[in-house]
Amino acid sequence: MTRTAVIGVGSMGRNHVRVYSEMPDVELVAVVDADPALADSVGKASHVPAYDDYREMIERERPEAVSVVVPTSLHYRVAKDVLELGCHVMVEKPIASTAGEAYELVRAAEGLGLALMVGHIERFNPAIVELKRRLDQNELGRIFQVHARRLGPFPTRIQDVGVIMDLAPHDLDIMRYLTGSEVSRVHAETKRILHETQDDMFVGLVRFDDGALGMLEINWLTPTKIRELCVTGERGMFRVNYITQDLFFYENAATNDSGWPTISLIRGVSEGMVIQYPVKKKEPLRAELESFIACVRDRLPGVGNGRDAMVALELVAALMQASADGQTNEVRYLADVESALQ
Ligand SMILES: NC(=O)c1ccc[n+]([C@@H]2O[C@H](COP(=O)([O-])OP(=O)(O)OC[C@H]3O[C@@H](n4cnc5c(N)ncnc54)[C@H](O)[C@@H]3O)[C@@H](O)[C@H]2O)c1
Repeated sequence: MTRTAVIGVGSMGRNHVRVYSEMPDVELVAVVDADPALADSVGKASHVPAYDDYREMIERERPEAVSVVVPTSLHYRVAKDVLELGCHVMVEKPIASTAGEAYELVRAAEGLGLALMVGHIERFNPAIVELKRRLDQNELGRIFQVHARRLGPFPTRIQDVGVIMDLAPHDLDIMRYLTGSEVSRVHAETKRILHETQDDMFVGLVRFDDGALGMLEINWLTPTKIRELCVTGERGMFRVNYITQDLFFYENAATNDSGWPTISLIRGVSEGMVIQYPVKKKEPLRAELESFIACVRDRLPGVGNGRDAMVALELVAALMQASADGQTNEVRYLADVESALQ
């Protein structure tokens, strides 16, 4: 049994508590929240001790694996303390508030030999898992374009970050994962329309090293929740609905009768069959936390691990800077800068 605890039992933290409680090989040993009444009520419902101080909880309960689900501005401080107290960490996305903090967390975890997982939950969405499997089998051919739409109503509880920092890490991480390529150039426009202090509308463009283009449309303004990804390539287009976990393929009929893609491409693009692939549905958080516990138990490097999360945050920072500058910017990665200095 792996001993786990959850720090921060607000909206998302309560899901971590529920999923750990449902896992057969895991023992939830405590919950923590800065709001003692909330900690108590979640602790009582889960039959575990409740704390309002995470240091005290770790010293008394000695969990091996801890979920950090506090507001984003506190991720770095709390995750660093928890690592230094000797626990494996699963921190919600985004990994931290700045790329520098993210890098420190990654190095701390690597130095201490502890797992650092970040809540890039979409990697565990069964529709994405199936899409990645099909892309790896070269079913699409060369990828031309990836288009992510993450639109929805206003989340009143998020005050410490804007929509780009809150949601874009998901799409940037998935785009890197699916294309297997790094972003070299970014352009972005952000706007604040309803939120009192933070941007609530974002459109971003990214160019990958292999030439593919990514487009991100993200807001807190659309009165219905849309979570969609389209990947267009030589043989057609895949479309994922993250919410329903559905995967569709729109075939480019001009390529379906030739074994030689170059010839097929010259024929152009025309509408072909539409296929809905079967996807075995599963709660992504359950798959993510199972992967975290497997990392803890087997000391495996995690999927959606710290370094990928750090790169996603660096891309968020680059997009925010490009929007502030009103221009297209090249991306400079911390890891590249550091290795150039060595
Ligand atoms: N992966 C996902 O899809 C996903 C979805 C939702 C939220 N999140 C992330 O989860 C994090 C939390 O979001 P939320 O919506 O649950 O916020 P929330 O405000 O509902 O909950 C945060 C909780 O942390 C508590 N807290 C604050 N400081 C603390 C401290 N020092 N010690 C212990 N508890 C403390 C607060 O009292 C609150 O109950 C955010 O970083 C968010 O980005 C991720």
